[in-house]
Amino acid sequence: MKPKIIVANWKCNPESSQEAQKLFEISDKKNVVIAAPYLFLHLGKELAYAQLGAQDAFLDNGAFTGEVSCRQLVKAGVKNVILGHSERRAYFGETDELIVQKAKAALDFGLSVIICVGESQKEKSEGEGMAGRTIRRNVINALSGIPPKRAGKITVAYEPVWAIGTGETPNPIDVNERAKAIKSTAESLGLFGVSVLYGGSVDENNCPEFLNQPEIDGLLVGGASLVPEKISRIIKTMNNLNGDIYPVIHKESAVKQKPASISIKASKAAKKESKKPVRAKAAKKETKPRKETAKAKPKKKIERKAVKAAKPKKPKIKKPAKKSVVAKSFSVTRPKKSPFSKVKKSVKKKR
Ligand code: PGA
Repeated sequence: MKPKIIVANWKCNPESSQEAQKLFEISDKKNVVIAAPYLFLHLGKELAYAQLGAQDAFLDNGAFTGEVSCRQLVKAGVKNVILGHSERRAYFGETDELIVQKAKAALDFGLSVIICVGESQKEKSEGEGMAGRTIRRNVINALSGIPPKRAGKITVAYEPVWAIGTGETPNPIDVNERAKAIKSTAESLGLFGVSVLYGGSVDENNCPEFLNQPEIDGLLVGGASLVPEKISRIIKTMNNLNGDIYPVIHKESAVKQKPASISIKASKAAKKESKKPVRAKAAKKETKPRKETAKAKPKKKIERKAVKAAKPKKPKIKKPAKKSVVAKSFSVTRPKKSPFSKVKKSVKKKR
């Protein structure tokens, strides 16, 4: 059986890097994905256990002001991306059509995708049949055309819109049925092994009921992922269920080396150091007077600068982007129309 996972969706939070750093440290556990805002992703580069996630991704590099591409995310160490969250659909006009394009691009770049689906309050009030049809349509639209070999990298997050941030949750047994239905819809498209998460007002009290359902492979946690005590308990519940011994980062050794800040980087480095045998060479290096190197450095820099200045400058040649279906459709660097209209065109062409 697959281990259950927790995806922490910080949304447009927190306010400062200090807070983000603290949340990274608290959530850095096995089977956790931390979907931080782009601004803080670099702080998660040294995570020891958790994986880094993004909350959205654009298709590829180019003249797309304000966007962050799949290619850039991969370079930044991101492994997962949330796509089609209901907030992006509602406030930023994302359509199923664009979401499938993003999913294909993200998968092409080797990212794992977490695609959000779920019925609105209105669709819920129209009855079970309506809600079921919406989810089925969302899943088919978001997954059609994705090659079966990519199934292992696909997760669908079932997030009823009416449950997000409201404190209201559906019955976990009903969610289990939904998860089963989502998996069989994916299978009808040739995608076997797709995971399904539940999201919407998950907290430290209700998480066991959802995690105990056999078809629910984990949770997408929004608000509670920003509260250290809550997310710690949710992660602990999940990993206890997975049967994992709760991982402990030995911060004591990190404190000895860097008393000022106990960063993830420091604790990881300290762990590595403690395992390494002390070699004579390394010890020799340590005894070198620091002044010497401090003096030598700026001199070298100046020399290098002078050489650089003497060299004639080569004209910069833009490397052609790596071949990918998506990159192809976005090869024009200055699109006159909106990129979204291009996305639509390329989708039509493919059909
Ligand atoms: P919530 O958000 O846990 O605050 O309801 C979940 C989500 O939107 O992913």
